[in-house]
Amino acid sequence: MARLSSISLLGLLYYGNIVAATASSNYTDYLLSSGTVKLGEWQSAYDKASALVETLTTEEKLTIITGGSAGNFTALEMLDSSTNPYTYYYVTTWPAGLAMAMTWNQTGIHDQGQALGSEFRGKGINLAYAPTLQPLGRSAWGGRQGETYGPDSYLNGHMGGQFVKGMADAGVIPSAKHFILNEQETNRQGSTSGGGGMGGPPGSSNSSTTTATTSTLPYNSVADDKTFHETYLAPFYDAVKSGIGGAMCSMNRINGTYACENQVTLGKYLKAELGFPGIVHPDVGGQHNGIESANAGEDFGSSMYWSNSTLGVGLTNGSFTEARLNDMVIRNMMGFYRYSQDASYPAYVSPTADVDVRGDHPAVARARGAESIALLKNTNNALPLKSKRSVSIFGYHAAPRYLGPNTALSVNTGTASTMIGHMTQVGGSAMGSLAYETTPFQVFTNRAASDGFMLRWWLNDSVVTTTSGMSGAGTVLTETTIGVADNSDVCICFLNAWSGEGGDRSELTNADQDNLVNTVADNCNNTIVVINTTGPRLVDQWISHENVTGVLYAGPLGMESGNAIDDVLFGAVNPSGRLIHTIAKNESDYDPGTAISENETIDFTEGNYIDYKYFDKYNITPRYEFGYGLSYTSFAYGTNISIQADTAALQQEYATGQIAIGGKEDLWNIVANVTATVTNTGNITGADVPQLYVTFPDAADQPIRQLRGFQKVSVAPSATETVTFTLRRRDLSYWDVVAQNWAVAKGQYTFYLAASSRDMKASTTLTL
Ligand SMILES: *[C@@H]1O[C@H](CO)[C@@H](O)[C@H](O)[C@H]1NC(C)=O
Ligand SMILES: *[C@@H]1O[C@H](CO)[C@@H](O)[C@H](O)[C@H]1NC(C)=O
Ligand SMILES: *[C@@H]1O[C@H](CO)[C@@H](O)[C@H](O)[C@H]1NC(C)=O
Ligand SMILES: *[C@@H]1O[C@H](CO)[C@@H](O)[C@H](O)[C@H]1NC(C)=O
Ligand SMILES: *[C@@H]1O[C@H](CO)[C@@H](O)[C@H](O)[C@H]1NC(C)=O
Ligand SMILES: *[C@@H]1O[C@H](CO)[C@@H](O)[C@H](O)[C@H]1NC(C)=O
Ligand SMILES: *[C@@H]1O[C@H](CO)[C@@H](O)[C@H](O)[C@H]1NC(C)=O
Ligand SMILES: *[C@@H]1O[C@H](CO)[C@@H](O)[C@H](O)[C@H]1NC(C)=O
Ligand SMILES: *[C@@H]1O[C@H](CO)[C@@H](O)[C@H](O)[C@H]1NC(C)=O
Ligand SMILES: *[C@@H]1O[C@H](CO)[C@@H](O)[C@H](O)[C@H]1NC(C)=O
Ligand SMILES: *[C@@H]1O[C@H](CO)[C@@H](O)[C@H](O)[C@H]1NC(C)=O
Ligand SMILES: *[C@@H]1O[C@H](CO)[C@@H](O)[C@H](O)[C@H]1NC(C)=O
Repeated sequence: MARLSSISLLGLLYYGNIVAATASSNYTDYLLSSGTVKLGEWQSAYDKASALVETLTTEEKLTIITGGSAGNFTALEMLDSSTNPYTYYYVTTWPAGLAMAMTWNQTGIHDQGQALGSEFRGKGINLAYAPTLQPLGRSAWGGRQGETYGPDSYLNGHMGGQFVKGMADAGVIPSAKHFILNEQETNRQGSTSGGGGMGGPPGSSNSSTTTATTSTLPYNSVADDKTFHETYLAPFYDAVKSGIGGAMCSMNRINGTYACENQVTLGKYLKAELGFPGIVHPDVGGQHNGIESANAGEDFGSSMYWSNSTLGVGLTNGSFTEARLNDMVIRNMMGFYRYSQDASYPAYVSPTADVDVRGDHPAVARARGAESIALLKNTNNALPLKSKRSVSIFGYHAAPRYLGPNTALSVNTGTASTMIGHMTQVGGSAMGSLAYETTPFQVFTNRAASDGFMLRWWLNDSVVTTTSGMSGAGTVLTETTIGVADNSDVCICFLNAWSGEGGDRSELTNADQDNLVNTVADNCNNTIVVINTTGPRLVDQWISHENVTGVLYAGPLGMESGNAIDDVLFGAVNPSGRLIHTIAKNESDYDPGTAISENETIDFTEGNYIDYKYFDKYNITPRYEFGYGLSYTSFAYGTNISIQADTAALQQEYATGQIAIGGKEDLWNIVANVTATVTNTGNITGADVPQLYVTFPDAADQPIRQLRGFQKVSVAPSATETVTFTLRRRDLSYWDVVAQNWAVAKGQYTFYLAASSRDMKASTTLTL
């Protein structure tokens, strides 16, 4: 019934778009058997899968594409996420995607992908719904940014790509999500659903997935072709090139057609243009129809929609083909053979089984967590903390939640914007499955005992200003916020912001928490603020307060969170995280056109101008810009940067390579190298993140400056390190909507060596 009504509704409202989409591309182009894509390292997987498909009956093929076992093929086990094996016991909960991206460490995220992959493998899971590349973060208020690698397509693609390589190295099939233009949670399943559906602690009735009943359709995203390619499709190029064997189509609609039955996005772009060789599978509730989704490019779906009475009938009346059915089956097996899972694979174990796959990963997760933290302010070297006698800590976020550690994480509209307790993870399908959780309260207590300082606490975000207490021998012992701050060498306020899958954010600040910081700072001349957030969190309510001497800013850091805080606050780790989103001075400084929308259609009219590209274009001064972060040491950049370019290659306007895995092959050719130096001018070892931004010629119609290179480099005191940024043809290309190809514009390119998106240190030019 549901299926029939949604087909008729779709037919009534969107018939024109579906016809247009079908007419605009010949879907046989994206079948692997068409030869459109040069398979390279995936060829032998294709050969094995094709041989197996020959042995199957139609019924067996239908079984495989709906998640069953048939013939020689055993159904793949699939599970979320890039944080941990979802709901499993005895696994490592890693820093969430936002935190991992804040490390800007490509080796680090590769190794995380590999370690996490080994945990999936150890549990017998074949395919992981990871990485989460998008939502990119078009909207500052988007609820799911805590999980992803940020709004810059270049950074997002590089971090996501390295994660994919790491997971593939562990022999697990990485599957990237969400494809595509899924930039807000509100109305992703239609207006009455409240989003949700994936949250809840392990074992609760809320941990099962639900499909919402909707009264209106999921929102419809519309982005022009240039924006679509340059901002949203770009990171998927990296993911495909790096080895994803799966892609999850999203719940929203695109140009009026569901993402999971959109032949333009799935067939034409993902499979034919990017050369994706794997399986497209739907997000929960993302599939709505039978023939449409199969013809559009979805390869794995529900038996509710795909059965002999739908696809089988299609085969007999010509609306569906055996060639496409075979293609679907083959795609279901591509990753399995590509990653040699046929050779041997650990047996599947249930979520609660006592199979400990952690190895040394918690220690590595702690190191990456500490490395992700961005130091935003540090007046008179207030940090790291040393020789303290009296320390006070403040805020709900300093100590555990009342229940834990796998606290209720179904985030729906209306959920509080902060967490009452230590926030270490995001909500929804990337939620933590924590075997334990370290908190600031615990590590400070341990340190007070070992280091011999006095520790006081106020574990609440509400300020109590009435002083009442017992008079003792010359002192007043109170239990008010102010009293706890009195006579402290240092006061540390812990703040968080909370959101996740299924719910967007209603505010980027919080009055209770900001009032807490100001009240403490009014009474404590050395106030440090530690923030954990799931997206941009403003600081202007107190950042200029003379007594706020230090600010640490981070994403959700997983099970080793408290220890990671300790590492940075007390100086065992020199902070080297850099922001991956802009922190504005005022909420109104973010593009109002990207506010969470209740409209049926969401127009991406801002084009490529999201996050720092928007602030640059409209000349809005941020509080802390994209790419910003301090260190306990200092760095200086060489003023000479040099560029070696393959001008002959760059004179050729269009990419001409054959389509292979990751698109036209020449898009990946290195066309220029930029070399620069960085010197540690302080007296302790630290890691820096030199960044390369490029200004394109006007003809390319690009944002003012765009990230096109970055390196994370550890530098000893007084040492100088050379960094080389390698530019691929695609890094200097724009999408030519007329030619429908990536093109290199003629004119002058300026390359900036920078410490952040607003801190240019040196530049050089190249004219084509
Ligand atoms: C697509 O093109 C192929 C050959 O290029 C042709 O055999 C097939 O009939 C076409 N299919 C559609 C649906 O137009
Ligand atoms: C199916 O499995 C059997 C037993 O392992 C093997 O001999 C046969 O070659 C397999 N067939 C295909 C098509 O993979
Ligand atoms: C990056 O991560 C690796 C671990 O994969 C680590 O060994 C290295 O020190 C990190 N690099 C920097 C500069 O912090
Ligand atoms: C499931 O979630 C709903 C809505 O958030 C809540 O009312 C209910 O108590 C939850 N049930 C369990 C078992 O956690
Ligand atoms: C969506 O429609 C716009 C025109 O409104 C077009 O530029 C764009 O290419 C279309 N995108 C897709 C994915 O079909
Ligand atoms: C599947 O459907 C076709 C066409 O309707 C029919 O000929 C065939 O017998 C069906 N097969 C099974 C196994 O039900
Ligand atoms: C800061 O406060 C501490 C503790 O109350 C006090 O000892 C110190 O002198 C103050 N420092 C300044 C610069 O006011
Ligand atoms: C800074 O803290 C001290 C207490 O150490 C307090 O006397 C002073 O008023 C505070 N400054 C401001 C601007 O609140
Ligand atoms: C919170 O952020 C701090 C640094 O700002 C970091 O040390 C800590 O591990 C983070 N904690 C959580 C719970 O994410
Ligand atoms: C909703 O649509 C209206 C009319 O097109 C537009 O004025 C408004 O800005 C849109 N709202 C959002 C949040 O995009
Ligand atoms: C860039 O550096 C790589 C690696 O050193 C080298 O192979 C390549 O030739 C260089 N390309 C150019 C254009 O200088
Ligand atoms: C390192 O530099 C800081 C500030 O520049 C200074 O306070 C400190 O004494 C120096 N430490 C050593 C060991 O030289």
